[in-house]
Amino acid sequence: MITKKSNQDKVIFFDTTSRDGKQAPGNNHSPEETVLLARHLAEMGVDVMEAGFPISSDADFKSVRYVAEEVAGIKCAALARARNEDIECAARAFKNAITPPRIHVFIASSDIHLKDKLRMSEEQVISVAVNAIRKARSYVDDVEFSPEDASRTGFDFLKRIVKATIEAGANTINIPDTVGYAVPKEFGDMIARLNQEVYFLHKHNATLSVHCHNDLGMATANTLAGIKNGARQAHCTINGIGERAGNTHFAEVVMALKTRRDYFGVNINIDTAKIGPTARFLSSVIGKSISDTLPIVGENVFAHSAGVHQDGMNKSRKTYEIMSPELVGWKGELFPLSSQSGRQGLKKRLADIGYTAVDQTLLNTVYAQFIALANTKKLVYNADLHMLMQEINGKEKAKSKHWIRLVRCDYHKVNEERTVVVRLAVNGNEFEASGTGDGPIHSAWSAIKNALQRNNYWPGDVELKSFDIGKSVGGVEACGLAQVQIAMGAKTAYGRGVNTDIVIAYIQAELSAINHLVHTPIIQT
Ligand code: KIV
Ligand code: ZN
Repeated sequence: MITKKSNQDKVIFFDTTSRDGKQAPGNNHSPEETVLLARHLAEMGVDVMEAGFPISSDADFKSVRYVAEEVAGIKCAALARARNEDIECAARAFKNAITPPRIHVFIASSDIHLKDKLRMSEEQVISVAVNAIRKARSYVDDVEFSPEDASRTGFDFLKRIVKATIEAGANTINIPDTVGYAVPKEFGDMIARLNQEVYFLHKHNATLSVHCHNDLGMATANTLAGIKNGARQAHCTINGIGERAGNTHFAEVVMALKTRRDYFGVNINIDTAKIGPTARFLSSVIGKSISDTLPIVGENVFAHSAGVHQDGMNKSRKTYEIMSPELVGWKGELFPLSSQSGRQGLKKRLADIGYTAVDQTLLNTVYAQFIALANTKKLVYNADLHMLMQEINGKEKAKSKHWIRLVRCDYHKVNEERTVVVRLAVNGNEFEASGTGDGPIHSAWSAIKNALQRNNYWPGDVELKSFDIGKSVGGVEACGLAQVQIAMGAKTAYGRGVNTDIVIAYIQAELSAINHLVHTPIIQT
């Protein structure tokens, strides 16, 4: 019988957003963006970040190098095939690492991969894996080994390769469900058997880890089954991005372990309030919105729109809430309105947020626009109502020559740096300026600010409070909807833009907010 030490009850989080997550189309992010993500992860308490696969591209090499050299408080890992050149390349990326790094070596172990891909015997695979682990250990003290496609590997061979790689120096053994084929009971049993039958895991104090894919929608369930059965490291990605249907969604695992500690009985060291901001940061960097219903971080996940639920929540939040939105840094409202809300509900909500003088004519106008928005967005928040009221109040001003307009916009990427150029028109003048930044939003903000500042139209100490991009509007001709909130002292303004190009939609939204800030601000008292 194996006795567990207390530190074995802590689950280590291994983030692979910038490696497995980035592998999927559309999730690319630059080395600089990877560094910013690493800082978010470190602040949140994530233990290990796989920042890339150095031999696969120059950008991945840089991502690993920059994170290893610049970000404190998180261990940087690099992926390598069981080949000398991959391991040497990872070691080069780690040359000036500020925290002891990890090399993550993998080779496939299932029959399918051995026969059809590697064309190697089991003995050959073991020998290649063992040599690779020894080679990696000659550079770093921390080596992780993954038998790829472990969940479709015969158990006897899996045990043999795990034992051999631990003996060769692997400190972590990661069991991947590479193609998302496993089911929780079976996967949990496999982890339990490895834990019980591979004595070397305990002799060498090696950590058992799990890495799951979501092809059948079971990545989180399989990861949790692994943890319940003795795995003490979980590979996850922010927002569950990754190959095909994605990897295990980090926030789900964290919150399941925290909310159901009574069942799982393990410790985690994650600052959960940073979950929401980190999810939104990644979404803005890769330019993909978070699904409204994505657990923990989606816009709808704490919203209660049915009357019965709202009534229950007003009496006790425990009725329909198993964790609090504040706990995960959720940004939304408990009671958004929807197209089901009537005129009186809208009038009451407008009064609650400060619009007390809404007569019948104005109410009819707002209601028509509210319904149009609700049909697009489904849930309408207080910020949306402020935006509608500002648009109505500023309608005449918006036709005047004092209203700043976008004439043209161009953006491109040079050496990983995004440059946005905007041409604006106001008071019969046209002028342009460019801006660069960490991503398209930051660059667009700088371009607008530069253009307006140089021509004395920038209102002052303006702060970007929030933005939301990427909501799809319409069918085949889908457009992006961007919404922006800015503030200057006690003045707040909202803006929106709709375009097939999300950067242009954002620029329109920001210009609209700046115009409203100057002409029709909301004054917060
Ligand atoms: O899915 C997988 O098997 C992987 C390995 C490289 C760990 O991503
Ligand atoms: Zn994977």
